[in-house]
Amino acid sequence: MNAHTAIKAAPDAFAARQAFAKPDTMAMATHETVLSPRFYTTDFAALDAIDVSPVRAEWDALMAEMVSDPNKHHFKKDVSFDGAIESLEPALRAEFTDFLVSSLTSEFSGCVLYAEIARRTRNPDMKQLFKLLARDESRHAGFINETLKDSGIGIDLGFLTKAKKYHYFKPKFIFYAVYLSEKIGYARYIAIFRQLAAKPEMRFHPIFNWFEQWCNDEFRHGEAFAMLLRADPKLLKGMNKLWVRFFLLSVYATMYVRDHARPVFHEALGLDPTAYDYRVFTICTQISRQVFPVELDTDAPAFRRNMDNLLAASRRIEAGKARGGLVGLAMRASGMAGAGLSFAKMYLQRTHSNALPATIRLQPAW
Ligand SMILES: [Fe+2]
Ligand SMILES: [Fe+2]
Repeated sequence: MNAHTAIKAAPDAFAARQAFAKPDTMAMATHETVLSPRFYTTDFAALDAIDVSPVRAEWDALMAEMVSDPNKHHFKKDVSFDGAIESLEPALRAEFTDFLVSSLTSEFSGCVLYAEIARRTRNPDMKQLFKLLARDESRHAGFINETLKDSGIGIDLGFLTKAKKYHYFKPKFIFYAVYLSEKIGYARYIAIFRQLAAKPEMRFHPIFNWFEQWCNDEFRHGEAFAMLLRADPKLLKGMNKLWVRFFLLSVYATMYVRDHARPVFHEALGLDPTAYDYRVFTICTQISRQVFPVELDTDAPAFRRNMDNLLAASRRIEAGKARGGLVGLAMRASGMAGAGLSFAKMYLQRTHSNALPATIRLQPAW
């Protein structure tokens, strides 16, 4: 059994081991599941043809803001980080470590993809954007890794670059996926930051103090992808609307299942994972009106029921994996069928349509 399954299958046993052994964070970061953050590669030559002239004025303003580097001095730890992970009780420490490793993996996945695009493209607008994006994501990943290193559980990022599997996506799919991951990243961090501003006694680690300015970076990154999508209107019309729906639902469903696997972490923050996730979906839906012509009705009772069915099905899959044998196999098969059906029901649910605004740019006001 690997570290990832161990956390889910037997949190108590895992927690007990934590008191004696350091978790294998590299194994956690390289482990591939449908839910874990992935590394991507794309058709780099196709990016050369991208033309931002339809959104030039807004584009130039955003680039100027990113060049000014508002967070240049933000990512510096202070003494409050010393021993902060070790002082947590074992179950919380295990889930918080899982949260940090998964955040680090997704920050670093962005960094690797963006740096590779910046290196390969001959389009000057793309080169500038992706260099700036890689600069920020490498800072974010580095900051989390420094936090882990304090406890002796840092990750060798050079090794991770080689050890991770890369998934190929056409550029348009990269744009849908990274637009959403930047915006949902903003929504996730700001929702935690606001919660802890209201309840400072729940702030069990100092890293949360960094989230507000940090997520403004993610917000800006998302703005750039909103402009790239709006610069090529066919990406947001016809059949592509079905892809938008698919990516929205995939991102939401993944987040829902993953967050519900960290009950102790959310309880420590004073958050109910269901309420927290729906708050994040609402923020994300409001923001994505700048670019997506369709939105999911995440408040519909049927949607919420199917999301819970999907969660139950994914737990059946995990339990089946842990159990093994024929019974385990049957549990996995039934879980997969249930998850597929719940996903399809949510996908086919009626969406709201949305008229795109003339001005794309938004401010991080949530
Ligand atoms: Fe980031
Ligand atoms: Fe980002």
